[in-house]
Amino acid sequence: MASNSFGKFFKITTFGESHGKAIGVIIDGCIPNLPLSKKEIEKELEKRSPGKNFFSSSRKEEDKIEILSGIFKGKTTGAPIAILIENKDKDSASYEKIKDLYRPSHANFTYLQKYGIFDYRGGGRASARETVLRVAAGAIAKKILKKYNIELLAFIHSIGDIEIENKILDLEFKKLFNLTKKSPLFCPDKTSQNKMLSLLKKIKEEKDSIGGSIRLISTPLIPGLGDPIYEKLSSELAKAFLSIPGCIGLEVGRGFMASRSRGSENNDRFELKNNKVITKTNNSGGILAGISTGMPLDIKIAFKPTSTIEKPQETLNFKNEQKILKIDNFRHDICIAIRACPVVEAMAAIVLLNALMSQKTLKI
Ligand SMILES: Cc1cc2nc3c(=O)[nH]c(=O)nc-3n(C[C@H](O)[C@H](O)[C@H](O)COP(=O)(O)O)c2cc1C
Repeated sequence: MASNSFGKFFKITTFGESHGKAIGVIIDGCIPNLPLSKKEIEKELEKRSPGKNFFSSSRKEEDKIEILSGIFKGKTTGAPIAILIENKDKDSASYEKIKDLYRPSHANFTYLQKYGIFDYRGGGRASARETVLRVAAGAIAKKILKKYNIELLAFIHSIGDIEIENKILDLEFKKLFNLTKKSPLFCPDKTSQNKMLSLLKKIKEEKDSIGGSIRLISTPLIPGLGDPIYEKLSSELAKAFLSIPGCIGLEVGRGFMASRSRGSENNDRFELKNNKVITKTNNSGGILAGISTGMPLDIKIAFKPTSTIEKPQETLNFKNEQKILKIDNFRHDICIAIRACPVVEAMAAIVLLNALMSQKTLKI
């Protein structure tokens, strides 16, 4: 398997499987002299950890990290940072029974076509357990970005056909941040959140799962981040998000709405505010020609319904015989998008930090 790294300058390489002994990440390219503690990283991991709510997987992982290298006297040294996390709450037995069945819309069919072998325990390498490592690396990227006044927030935009009220987006970043932090669903809009919780309860009773979408926003970015043509900021972010398991698409700014609009309606008018050029609207989501405009990022990211459901499903076994897939001891998320919020923030942070580190265009 060749592709386990992400990022050019701040580069992460992850390893490990869902039910293996441990998972880990090596972060190469972190700036030196950054004060960094285990606690700070674990605080970020806490946001993503399962087992806290009826709608998330009941797997209980504390996600305590061990930092093996790259930090000396509480500060980064510039050397690779290696982080290890033990897998503690494994239940491989329930996977034994289904090991010879194709899991509809999950990973084992394509892995088997490609590699001829699949670690079926908990989904192996395809499991979202890997995303905890992205969040660990993202915690460091976020800390560096904060020094450049860049902060990110990913929150639930929709679950099924329940969408947050648009007016909530008029709130300033800090307010949205605090409302999101308080919500078990990462949803800043309480009215929609309560409707979503009722829907999730119904979906759970029906032994089913549901899709959802995340909205990623930032504080106003530094204008000029990203590159034109092949490494546009938007295309780098798209690659980052689409690499998250279960992610099926994204819309930058107004996205598909823009494709149904007229230019006169969609164009963001420039204006001068406090001696700074801004745009009256932010329909382009903070990116033009692959380069940040200086407005906040605004991207919607779509996640499919969790493919593993409690309902029995028809499928084939590896001998192509028709079978029924029934999951015992069900420990899965009902809606992937919820626990993917911190993962989206982490991946966006890694992309933005790389964009910042690649700023080589000197102006005279
Ligand atoms: C945070 C997070 C949690 C997830 N939890 C589950 C889960 O409990 N059960 C499941 O079948 N898939 C879950 N997934 C999605 C699968 O890992 C994913 O659908 C699978 O690897 C196939 O990849 P694909 O959907 O990108 O094609 C989760 C994804 C994320 C990001």
